[in-house]
Amino acid sequence: MNGSAAMVSVEGLSIHFGGVAALSDLSFEVGEGQITGLIGPNGAGKTTCFNCITGLYRPSAGTVVFKGQNLTRLAPHRIAGRRIARTFQNLELFPSMTALENVMVGGANRARALELLDYVGQRDNAARIVHGLPFGARKMIEIARALAMEPELLLLDEPASGFGHDAIGQIGDTIERIRSDFKTTILMVEHSMQLVMRVCNRIIVLQSGQKLAEGDPAAIAANPAVIEAYLGS
Ligand SMILES: Nc1ncnc2c1ncn2[C@@H]1O[C@H](COP(=O)(O)OP(=O)(O)OP(=O)(O)O)[C@@H](O)[C@H]1O
Ligand SMILES: [Mg+2]
Repeated sequence: MNGSAAMVSVEGLSIHFGGVAALSDLSFEVGEGQITGLIGPNGAGKTTCFNCITGLYRPSAGTVVFKGQNLTRLAPHRIAGRRIARTFQNLELFPSMTALENVMVGGANRARALELLDYVGQRDNAARIVHGLPFGARKMIEIARALAMEPELLLLDEPASGFGHDAIGQIGDTIERIRSDFKTTILMVEHSMQLVMRVCNRIIVLQSGQKLAEGDPAAIAANPAVIEAYLGS
């Protein structure tokens, strides 16, 4: 964990859907103030892990401890109340509401919500109904909504999806700015290796619900099992 204290400890997490073991005995830690990447092929269990941390799924075994408190049996709104915010891979905005209204749902007043939209480059879309906006714009609005919760821990599920390759650098900048401006710890699921390698202090690699590898970006990039998992998928 590179010497920083663990903000989150995931211990022995398991969950099954019918015959599919989506997570099997998964353990890892998220260091306070760090950007931790959670990567792995499609279906590896990354989103399932976010759903367990945020209380949407109830694991069949294991615990999630956040700042010394066991979150495992808490309802999602109680977990959110501990200032754990997230974005969703497939977006969970209210489609018929404006961008501004969506951010206000995160708990911000109008002025603050406008500031947050500005922060993620979506000020011009404030009064627009979210439904008609491009996927990339909606992703940023969802990040603004998460920031409205003043999160200590921010979970980002594929922040770069919906953006072209040339936007990756800008998304990386945004994520790094969020970490320093909001003093938030970030756990990020992402398929863009370029983004993950650039912003993450530490990377956890999942495959078939199990931890395949863990380390800093250089170690992960050079890990034969990781290379094999990606080339084989
Ligand atoms: N609610 C659910 N009901 C049934 N199966 C589920 C459910 N949620 C997840 N799964 C299964 O669990 C496994 C892990 O899915 P998950 O969505 O966590 O993968 P992922 O790593 O996020 O993949 P991707 O990169 O494609 O988003 C898959 O086999 C998926 O079909
Ligand atoms: Mg996913």
